[in-house]
Amino acid sequence: MTAVPELILTRTVADLREQVAALRNAGKRIGFVPTMGALHEGHLALAAEARRRSDAVVGSVFVNPTQFAAHEDLGTYPRQEARDAELLAGAGCSILFAPDAAEMYPNGFATSVQVGGPSEGLETDFRPHFFSGVAVVVAKLLNQVQADVAVFGEKDYQQLMVVRRMARDLDIPTEIVGAPTVRDTHGLALSSRNAYLSAEELTVARRLNVILREAADRAAAGEPVETVEMAAAGALIESGFAKVDYVAIRYSETLAPFSGAVDASARILAAAWLGKTRLIDNMAVTA
Ligand code: PAF
Repeated sequence: MTAVPELILTRTVADLREQVAALRNAGKRIGFVPTMGALHEGHLALAAEARRRSDAVVGSVFVNPTQFAAHEDLGTYPRQEARDAELLAGAGCSILFAPDAAEMYPNGFATSVQVGGPSEGLETDFRPHFFSGVAVVVAKLLNQVQADVAVFGEKDYQQLMVVRRMARDLDIPTEIVGAPTVRDTHGLALSSRNAYLSAEELTVARRLNVILREAADRAAAGEPVETVEMAAAGALIESGFAKVDYVAIRYSETLAPFSGAVDASARILAAAWLGKTRLIDNMAVTA
């Protein structure tokens, strides 16, 4: 039997700071993995990456209301804190920070964080509130934890680029590391929202990564970017997706629209709907 290491649960910023200070005083390098809970293998891979890069890992679970629009799934977003705590402990985390909304956004909270550059277009065209919500909560979490390194998944590729830009622009000293997307045996990117999919939808969902890979290969073989993007959107609809928000080939660092022949700096990103579930995925074009 493997012993599960002890996980310290903190709910307040003051307590978190005390716990992190104790680790620092003991000479530990601190890693951080922010999450909204409903953890799966993808999150555990982030924790493992943080563990490789540090001596002690803080995981956070906070379903951040500011990144949901009124019509989105804040109320139904899966919540399973006890299971998440066990999984984080098993993945070698030392501290779980699980604040409530009042701790993160006390009465009178009046600050926003707007990131330009990589936040423009793609997700923002369809979820205009999203990156300001992510930026404010991640800025707070990075300041609260003050880790040496924080790990974010490439699954949310635009988010990773936005967080990296924000940390750079605001001189937040935590190193921002991206970890590769974890996929199921059919290549479907793991996501907490996959739990919403029916068995039939799951079969269709598994076409997303295949269609993106085919599109990326066609772009890499020299087909014009716009033709490839449109063909991939059509293929998604033919496969059973109800709506495609975007399929786009972008520069991987800036996320600006790609022009000319694709090379190693190109990334293909997509968002599409299956029933009430919105799935996103992305990959390097010349992988
Ligand atoms: O990717 C997520 O789970 C969230 O957007 C994050 C980074 C934890 C901020 O709430």
